[in-house]
Amino acid sequence: MPDAPDSHGTTPTSVAPLIVCDATNEAAARRLASLLSLNILRLDDVAAGVLEPVLDLVVMVNLRDIESVRSLRSGLGEIRPRPGNRAFLVSSGAQQHADEVQALSLGATLLLRRETCFRQLRRMLSVSDRAPVPPRQAEALAKARGGEAILKTGKTLAGLFGSFTADAPIAVGEIEQFGAEVVGSVAEVGADAWLASVRDYHAGTFQHCLLVTATAASFANHHLSDREATLKLTTAALFHDLGKAEVPLHILDKPGKLSEDEFATIKMHPSRGHDYLLRQGGVDPQVLDAVLHHHEALDGSGYPHGLRGEQIAPMVRILTVCDIFAALVEARAYKPANSPQDAIAILVKMALEHKVDYQAVRSLAEVFDMSPPRTLGEVSANLMELERGS
Ligand SMILES: [Fe+2]
Ligand SMILES: [Fe+2]
Repeated sequence: MPDAPDSHGTTPTSVAPLIVCDATNEAAARRLASLLSLNILRLDDVAAGVLEPVLDLVVMVNLRDIESVRSLRSGLGEIRPRPGNRAFLVSSGAQQHADEVQALSLGATLLLRRETCFRQLRRMLSVSDRAPVPPRQAEALAKARGGEAILKTGKTLAGLFGSFTADAPIAVGEIEQFGAEVVGSVAEVGADAWLASVRDYHAGTFQHCLLVTATAASFANHHLSDREATLKLTTAALFHDLGKAEVPLHILDKPGKLSEDEFATIKMHPSRGHDYLLRQGGVDPQVLDAVLHHHEALDGSGYPHGLRGEQIAPMVRILTVCDIFAALVEARAYKPANSPQDAIAILVKMALEHKVDYQAVRSLAEVFDMSPPRTLGEVSANLMELERGS
């Protein structure tokens, strides 16, 4: 168990996990530090770069206090992909999204609600005694796996979500241009490496949006020869869940079944995101359509409009498949990640139930070196054959 040093004048010299807190959070931080065997450091004692040698860091600081944010930023040094975790504890409430955006701008890799953080922190820190990766090697590793582009995408998403929450304008052209960079990065490092890397660096809705964007970019790299179509799909993926910035985290992260009211709140997110983007002007109509209808299902059971079959445009169907695939391969507090193979198998089943477009599923499978049968009819025939044989 590491020593619990006096907070004043303590400079961490090792990679032992550390909790950094401000005066108002000190009592709660000390309780957590003693339960989890963490070193503790008060924000008053944080000097430039002092937090850099620490592999796993838990931050319990008021992120709406400008001075605190400045101290943290200088203590964290240059923000870049790194091994280890930076878990920021945020409180629930009206300011939660502002806190989250601030935490991400400080390089957070995990956003945890204080009320429910203990178990997740214990899990995170249980692997923290791994041998530290030398910084240069870590940087090279992260870079090879798309780390720089992922970090940049995370920041762009944080900016987007922040603008949405504040109903502030966004530079649509810059975001489209940025989508092109993601396409290039995913092509360079490969879809698998990008997906694995995203899971190392981000949590929650940002992780999901990064995964959907990477999946859509991979799909486009494999199957869309038209650059314009590629950019539209990637931009739609970046934007698709913007409306979720308004959905409280306790609903988004709820492990069990949602109540009717909670589901009604979730169902608002496509139109909220769409309406915000429409107000910006200059967003392509196909992109707007994809944001509004990415939860529609071919059998009419989706939302918000219960569209059916041909009423759902081809690009929307592709985004829906990428969205579901990304949700399946991401780990959530209440479920482990599925492998890409399992995710495709689940999507094939959904295609058999007339929920999603089979050709979009099949094309996505090819991205991950799988080749399901050419038609849904062949899938059904194979299944019947299997049933007869068993
Ligand atoms: Fe969504
Ligand atoms: Fe989504």
